[in-house]
Amino acid sequence: MEQYLIHGGNSLVGEVEIGGAKNAALPILAASIMTDETVHIDNVPDVRDTNVLMDAMGSIGIIINKENRHRVTINAAGISSTVVCDENIKKIRASYYLIGAMLGKYKHAEVTLPGGCDIGCRAIDQHIKGFRALGAEVILEHGMIKTRAEHLTGSHIYMDVVSVGATINIMLAASMAEGKTIIENAAKEPHVVDAANFLNSMGANIKGAGTDVIRIKGVQKLHGSDYAIVPDQIEAGTFMLAAAATRGDITVKNVIPKHLESITAKLLEIGCEVMEQGDQVRVVCSRPLRHTHIKTLPYPGFPTDMQPQITVVLGLSEGTSIVTESIFENRFKYVDELIRMGASIKVEGNTAIIDGVSKYTGAGIAAPDLRAGAALVLAALAAEGESVVDNIRYIQRGYEDFHLKLKNLGADIKVVDRETDYRGFKLMTG
Ligand code: UD1
Repeated sequence: MEQYLIHGGNSLVGEVEIGGAKNAALPILAASIMTDETVHIDNVPDVRDTNVLMDAMGSIGIIINKENRHRVTINAAGISSTVVCDENIKKIRASYYLIGAMLGKYKHAEVTLPGGCDIGCRAIDQHIKGFRALGAEVILEHGMIKTRAEHLTGSHIYMDVVSVGATINIMLAASMAEGKTIIENAAKEPHVVDAANFLNSMGANIKGAGTDVIRIKGVQKLHGSDYAIVPDQIEAGTFMLAAAATRGDITVKNVIPKHLESITAKLLEIGCEVMEQGDQVRVVCSRPLRHTHIKTLPYPGFPTDMQPQITVVLGLSEGTSIVTESIFENRFKYVDELIRMGASIKVEGNTAIIDGVSKYTGAGIAAPDLRAGAALVLAALAAEGESVVDNIRYIQRGYEDFHLKLKNLGADIKVVDRETDYRGFKLMTG
């Protein structure tokens, strides 16, 4: 099993190029099966989640060609089944986008339910409510979600919670329903907008994505498209916070600064300098950082996917900070690992009370999930001494070349294997 071996203490300095957004790529890849024509998608991040989804699509006869590392061509004309029970697909939440996409186009879908609850209970009741409102039958059995409709008919749907996944899934199915669908209390995240833009580029009629109310006029047919995915807001934010954690100076390139405003605001509040220029943001951290309070919220609020990374930074900031997690109930699992590195954090329910310390110290730590894993890497980079970060497969789900990008910024990080290199490392260091 691979791990990161990190020798902390270097300030990260330089430039880093941000890739396409994983959370936009997943619904866009799924949506590409809603036409018989060829679809070209650029800026697809080469990460585990997108590759698992493409493998699952390949298993039902969809032709997928990688023109280069980030550009794929997809043709679904030869789709052989609308049943996806690939074992691997359970490992990614976003497998559920295949349901909305296949239900919309083929009026039938059976997909293995996503398993594993790493950051809290992740219900899909709002997805199901939406599909049913469009006239589909939905049943859950034998670990699968099965849905079928004679006709899908547009509907007025009020979301009980703001859900990225449910908003996009309903948008997918409703794009090919008869008549008009209105989604109220819709999620407004950049990837919701990107998925809508992609569907519109295929001939869908979606208006209002990025606001609370999305209006969709169903069309009978979608066509091919050539589309580039937006830059990854969370990857960009992670590198911005890497500058803060290591007291560095990082220019994060190929970003949409508007998508990063909630992160920028907090960095300014705690004492970093943030300079926006065109499609890049430079974060400089040259003085001691101050405490602040943060509550995660749906976009444009502070993203839950940045909560572990900012907690790592606040753990090294003067004074007492409070971080409240309002989206997922179990997203502080990584705090125990931070405490082992010297952090002073107390978790009470969905709140972390953080007393800033002057330094972390390296330790053997394990990534509990994707974003917390990245946050622990930031902690290890800031820490004094060596750390070994286990379970890096979680991080590889969503960050392309994470350690190489960090290395380019001056980090002392490498991938090792517990059975070989790490043992060698332990022997070498006594
Ligand atoms: C997506 C992102 C994930 C991010 C999250 C919140 C992808 C692939 N993943 O996940 O990285 O952390 O948005 O920004 O894009 N909920 C229900 N019923 C539902 C659906 C959701 O109660 O049917 C609840 C969830 O339990 C959670 C909240 O709504 O408390 C938000 O979840 P949601 O926005 O759906 O997250 P995902 O789409 O799964």
